Amino acid sequence: MKLSEAMRKELRITVDYTNMTDRLLGDKGISAKTLEGHRKLARAAHAYVSENRGKDELFMGWTELPYNQGEVVEDILATAKLIRRKFDAFVVLGIGGSALGPSMAFTALCHLHHNELPRSKRRAPRFYVEDNIDPVRMKALLDIIDVRKTCFNVISKSGATSETMAQYLIITDALKKAGVNPKEHLIFTTDAARGNLVKLSKELGGVKSYVLGDGVGGRFSELSPVGLLPAAVLGIDIKTLLKGAAYMDKLCKSADFRKNPALMCATLQYIAMNDGKNVSVLMPYSDNLRYVSDWYAQLWAESLGKNVTLDGEPCHVGQTPVKALGVTDQHSQVQLYTEGPYDKVVTFLSVGSYAEKGEIPHGAEGIPDVSFLGGHTLEELIQAENKATAYALTKAGRLNYTILLPAVNAFTLGQLLFLFELQTAYTGAMLRIDTYNQPGVEAGKKATFALLGKPGYDLMKRDLDRAASDPDCIV
Ligand code: PA5
Repeated sequence: MKLSEAMRKELRITVDYTNMTDRLLGDKGISAKTLEGHRKLARAAHAYVSENRGKDELFMGWTELPYNQGEVVEDILATAKLIRRKFDAFVVLGIGGSALGPSMAFTALCHLHHNELPRSKRRAPRFYVEDNIDPVRMKALLDIIDVRKTCFNVISKSGATSETMAQYLIITDALKKAGVNPKEHLIFTTDAARGNLVKLSKELGGVKSYVLGDGVGGRFSELSPVGLLPAAVLGIDIKTLLKGAAYMDKLCKSADFRKNPALMCATLQYIAMNDGKNVSVLMPYSDNLRYVSDWYAQLWAESLGKNVTLDGEPCHVGQTPVKALGVTDQHSQVQLYTEGPYDKVVTFLSVGSYAEKGEIPHGAEGIPDVSFLGGHTLEELIQAENKATAYALTKAGRLNYTILLPAVNAFTLGQLLFLFELQTAYTGAMLRIDTYNQPGVEAGKKATFALLGKPGYDLMKRDLDRAASDPDCIV
């Protein structure tokens, strides 16, 4: 998509944080004095992120993804074209950072019932992201796809993630049993040299593979081949997605938080966090954007939930992300947000112009409760409910702010992803933690290895057996 400067400006994402301030929230809001008091810290966080951009050793390679993938993007586009021609279904096998991005982009930028459309009405194969190992789900998938007509994108940086590799074994076996060469149905996205998938590719005679760079962790990988290949297969304009990310990067160049939307969001969240707001609700008013909340939940939780600072000082920081959908969750969670504990920051994702308007016909004229809706559109209704919820929260003294996407498309989604990634990086820098590791996930992984008898975990197995449930504590 060609984008003139005027189009870029028109599609620019903006952040409205008025409802975070004491101007509207009184003593429940953030004062200009408090905000200004954090200017220096924000500047330092900005400097830290800017100075370390692109450094693989710090896992900050993601900052350069909008700029350094020219060749691989061409390769991905060519491969995607072949896949679209050859296969009926495209299945991502991955978990966490290897799955949440592809699911999000699919829902954001494709028809909401893509898989149910007849082939003539969709440009791409049916699409599935298998990010769990529930055996019922695996069987259900195998019931509805023909493996002989399916391409499987195995996405794992380490190639050692039990969930993904168990799926890999099942699918490879199914392909062999179906009498086809697995190599022709697999694409790997993995670490360049270290991952087990590199070895498996050799064993299978050279599987088409894409590299997830050393300095790009799973949750920051959506703009790498992890997300770009599935998106390209779906016909999403991945060049424009990257342009959107680069545009947001440009909008976030300033060290002045009043001129840098990601830095402002990070500073506000940091202030709120230090004031006991331990919950970050993300509430898109758009079904297309509903899985942005899942992707954000991992980014925010895994990056910021840490127990030690970079100086080795103990800390227990982070905010619990909560996923909500407007308007659906107005009828489920908003009661709590409005009247429950003062422990949340609600971030709305609002849409300026929906792809469909949804005219509401006149009718039920004798029933004013219903007839007033006639002549409006669903777009007007959803936008009004979005504003009304923000208003109600503000009236109740609840911190909330709005990220406005003028429309949902590849350019605005690219901006949004980069906004959240930068916001996370700045917040991690303010908290002085390692934003890019996830040691808290390791203990559970190791215990699984022990329970399934992986060599080298005997001691842990004994410990687990000892810690088995006490019958006295079972009711
Ligand atoms: O963000 C992360 O790093 C994790 O969520 C990983 O993406 C997830 O654990 C999968 O790891 P891998 O890509 O090695 O299979």
